Amino acid sequence: MKTLDLSGKTAIVTGASRGIGLAAAQALATAGANVVLTSRKQEAADAAAAQISGSAIGVGAHAVEEDQARRCIDLTLERFGSVDILVNNAGTNPAFGPMIDQDHGRFAKTMDVNLWAPLLWTGIATEAWMGEHGGSVINTASIGGLGHEADIGLYNVSKAALIYLTKQLALELSPKVRVNSVAPGVVRTKLAEALWKEHEEQVAAATALARIGEPDDIAAAIAFLASDAASWITGETMVIDGGQRLGDAAPYRRGASIGV
Ligand SMILES: NC(=O)c1ccc[n+]([C@@H]2O[C@H](COP(=O)([O-])OP(=O)(O)OC[C@H]3O[C@@H](n4cnc5c(N)ncnc54)[C@H](OP(=O)(O)O)[C@@H]3O)[C@@H](O)[C@H]2O)c1
Repeated sequence: MKTLDLSGKTAIVTGASRGIGLAAAQALATAGANVVLTSRKQEAADAAAAQISGSAIGVGAHAVEEDQARRCIDLTLERFGSVDILVNNAGTNPAFGPMIDQDHGRFAKTMDVNLWAPLLWTGIATEAWMGEHGGSVINTASIGGLGHEADIGLYNVSKAALIYLTKQLALELSPKVRVNSVAPGVVRTKLAEALWKEHEEQVAAATALARIGEPDDIAAAIAFLASDAASWITGETMVIDGGQRLGDAAPYRRGASIGV
């Protein structure tokens, strides 16, 4: 039987100082993996690793800096002996407003962190370990990459491209390395505060499952995709959004219909 057990495996989670990354690191550790948590700051990575119940270390590594990515993967191999799972989770959204008004600085930062970094880390991990021994890569995309929204077009373009990159890499790295994405809806994290903080009730009411997401909701899917239970899944993007992509649920609920 295929199992969710990750004993003996080692996972790197980028952007794991808080939010979805921290929850993913805990889910992977709970399933038995050694976990390496990254943040731009060593202290934040250490503080996050200290919260994990299981085998964990923190490594300061800016996701876009190649030398820091290499150092993190080298440290992981030295410490744990393998890099079986890579969660490309670090993400940013420095741009708000119409796409047409964006400048090159915001465009470059968004694309660098959300798109280039997953390619960079996957390349290094493949060369260092996964290409020979196999592995599972999970990219944190977004439902924004599957649709259209006002004012966060640049972020959504980066996530749409990440979904495409996931499929491309799933083919290029086959059959040894599986590459999948998760596409969260609105989740209670710092990055997404603008989407829920002032109007959580409204967002929850419009969501089929009647609440916004919690980091653990996404973490569970990441741990599944990392495991042998998902061993025949690659190039896929798993939507985890409580039904948000279905549209406003309120008018469909029992008692909401006005009838004719
Ligand atoms: N929350 C949502 O509703 C939602 C929905 C869809 C997708 N997502 C995606 O989920 C992922 C995680 O975001 P989150 O919502 O959990 O946000 P969060 O709580 O704000 O966490 C973001 C994480 O990314 C790290 N980070 C940012 N830039 C980095 C860089 N250049 N190098 C390394 N680490 C970096 C941050 O670490 P430091 O600040 O410590 O460096 C932090 O650990 C992102 O890819 C985001 O796009 C979130």
